[in-house]
Amino acid sequence: MDLVSSLIITTIILALSFTGRCSHVYSRSDFPEGFSFGSGASSYQWEGAAAEDGRKPSIWDTYLHSRNLDNGDIACDGYHKYKEDVQLMVETGLDAFKFSISWSRLIPNGRGPVNAKGLQFYKNFIQQLVAHGIEPHVTLYHYDHPQALEDDYGGWLNPTIIKDFTAYADVCFREFGNHVKFWTTINEANIFTIGGYNDGITAPGRCSRNCISGNSSSEPYIVGHNLLLAHASASRLYRQKYKDMQGGSVGFGLFAIGFSPTTTSKDDEIATQRARDFYLGWMLGPLVFGEYPYVMRRTVGSRLPDFSEEESELVKGSSDFVGLTHYTAATVTNIIPYYSGDPDFYSDTSITLTYLCNDSSTGLLLDTCEDTPRAMEGVLEYIKQSYENPPVYILENGKSIKGDFQLQEKDTPRIEYLHVYIGAVLKAVRNGSDTRGYFVWSLMDLYELLDGYGSTFGLYYVNFSDSHRKRSPKHSAHWYSGFLKGDTTFLGSQGIAQLQVNFSSSSL
Ligand SMILES: *[C@@H]1O[C@H](CO)[C@@H](O)[C@H](O)[C@H]1NC(C)=O
Ligand SMILES: *[C@@H]1O[C@H](CO)[C@@H](O)[C@H](O)[C@H]1NC(C)=O
Ligand SMILES: *[C@@H]1O[C@H](CO)[C@@H](O)[C@H](O)[C@H]1NC(C)=O
Ligand SMILES: *[C@@H]1O[C@H](CO)[C@@H](O)[C@H](O)[C@H]1NC(C)=O
Ligand SMILES: *[C@@H]1O[C@H](CO)[C@@H](O)[C@H](O)[C@H]1NC(C)=O
Repeated sequence: MDLVSSLIITTIILALSFTGRCSHVYSRSDFPEGFSFGSGASSYQWEGAAAEDGRKPSIWDTYLHSRNLDNGDIACDGYHKYKEDVQLMVETGLDAFKFSISWSRLIPNGRGPVNAKGLQFYKNFIQQLVAHGIEPHVTLYHYDHPQALEDDYGGWLNPTIIKDFTAYADVCFREFGNHVKFWTTINEANIFTIGGYNDGITAPGRCSRNCISGNSSSEPYIVGHNLLLAHASASRLYRQKYKDMQGGSVGFGLFAIGFSPTTTSKDDEIATQRARDFYLGWMLGPLVFGEYPYVMRRTVGSRLPDFSEEESELVKGSSDFVGLTHYTAATVTNIIPYYSGDPDFYSDTSITLTYLCNDSSTGLLLDTCEDTPRAMEGVLEYIKQSYENPPVYILENGKSIKGDFQLQEKDTPRIEYLHVYIGAVLKAVRNGSDTRGYFVWSLMDLYELLDGYGSTFGLYYVNFSDSHRKRSPKHSAHWYSGFLKGDTTFLGSQGIAQLQVNFSSSSL
C-alpha cells in the first residue's frame, strides 16, 4: 500500500472512530497502554467459611442471621476454591482482580491479636494471584466491620474506630504490601452510609423509622465523617511508613449515580448539581478541597460535623485515586422538602430521584434495567472537570440478571451492557478523563448484599445448589475474554446472534 492511500485509510478510520455512530467499534488496543481490565468480588460475598479458622462475625453476619435472610455463610466457598478461581481469571485473561479483606477474619475482635490462619489465607490468595500475573486491587473495608467493634463502641459512629481501622490497615500494608500496589480503604463510602444509617436496609440496619435504633438526621453525617478520617489516617500511615518501600497507592471508593435533570427548568438544573454535591461532593469535596460542599454545610448545619483545620489538611489530598462503582442513572426533580419530624439525608437533598428503570418495581440502586452508558461517560466527565481530574478506577460496573441457569448462561443483555459501558469509558478517556482501569462486577455469581442469591452479576455461573459450588462460564465470560485477548468488538443485532452461535460451538 502506498503512503497516500494508507493516509487516506487512516483518516477514514479516525473519522469513523470519532463519530458517534461508529464509536461502538473498538478493541482493547484502543485503550491507553497500561489501562487495566479486571473483575471482582468481595470477602463476605465470595469467601464463605464464615465461622472457620477463627473468623468471627462481621456486622453482615449479624444483620442477616438476626433477620433470617439468605446469607454468605458458604457463598461461593472461595475460601477453599481460590486456586480454581485464579485459574478462571487466567483463562478469562484478566489483568487485575478486585477483592476485599474480611477485617474479622484477619483481626477477629477488630483490634488486638491477628488471626494466623486468616493471615495465611490472604497471603496464599495474593501469592496465587501474583504468581499468575493478576494484579491484586485490595479493598480494606467492604461493608463489613467486626461485630465486636459494633458491640464495644458503636462501630463507625464512634471516632475510636479511626485508630482501630488504622491499626488494621497497618497489618495489611505490612503483611501484604510487597505484592499489593493498589489499596482502596473504603468501598462505596456514600452508599454504605446511606444504606446502613439513613435507610437501615443494609448492615448495621440503623435509621429513625422502622429500625430498632438509629438517627437518620445525624448518624449518616457522623459515619461519613469518621470514614473520611479513617481513610485519611490510613493513607497518611501508608505514606509515612510504606510508600517509599512498596510504591503503591491508596484510594477511596464511591458509588456514583449518573444524574441528569428531569426537565429543562432552572430548578431541576440546580437540583441536579445539589444531587451531585450530596452524593459525590460529600466525600470528594473533603478529599480534593478539604471541606464539605457549601450547599451541604448550609442545609445540614450543625448535624454535619466540622473538620478542624488539622483534620481538613489530613483529608485533603489523601486519596491517590477514586475507586468508582457505577450502575445506575437517575433523573433529578427539585422538590420542596416535606417531612414530619426530623430531617434525614433525603429531605436534606430536596430532590426526588427517578431511576431509569423500565421495571421500577424495586428502585434499588443495583437495578441496571435500562442501559444508559452516557451516564457513565457523564460521571467520568464530571469528576474530571469538577475535581481536578484525579486518577479513577471503575471498580464495579456490570449487569444483574434474574433467573435460572438457561437465562443466566445465554446472558446476551449482559454482553450488550458491558459492550456499551466499556465503549463509554473509552469515550471519556479519549476526552481526557484519567480513568486507568475497569473492573466487571462480578467475576462469578455471588451473594449480593441487597438481593441475596436472587439476581446475579457473574461472568461465571455458580450453582449454589451444588455442594461444590460448581462454576461454569456464561456467554459474557467468553465475550469479555475475547475482548481482552484482542477481538474487535462490534455488536449489532447480527453480531449478537453470531456470538451466540460461536459460543455454543466453542469451549473456553
Ligand atoms: C437525632 O439527632 C438530632 C441531631 O443531633 C437530634 O436533634 C434529634 O433529637 C435526634 N433524634 C432522636 C429521635 O433522637
Ligand atoms: C425500556 O423501555 C424503552 C421504551 O419502551 C425501550 O425502548 C427499551 O428498549 C427498554 N429497555 C429495556 C432494557 O428493556
Ligand atoms: C470534553 O472535554 C472538554 C474539556 O474538559 C469539555 O468541555 C467537553 O464538554 C467534553 N466533551 C464531552 C462530550 O463530555
Ligand atoms: C446444580 O447442582 C444440583 C445438585 O448437584 C444439580 O441437581 C443441578 O442439575 C445443577 N444445576 C445446573 C444448572 O447445573
Ligand atoms: C464468529 O466466528 C466466526 C468464525 O470463526 C468469525 O468470523 C466471526 O467474527 C465470529 N463472530 C463474532 C461476533 O465473534
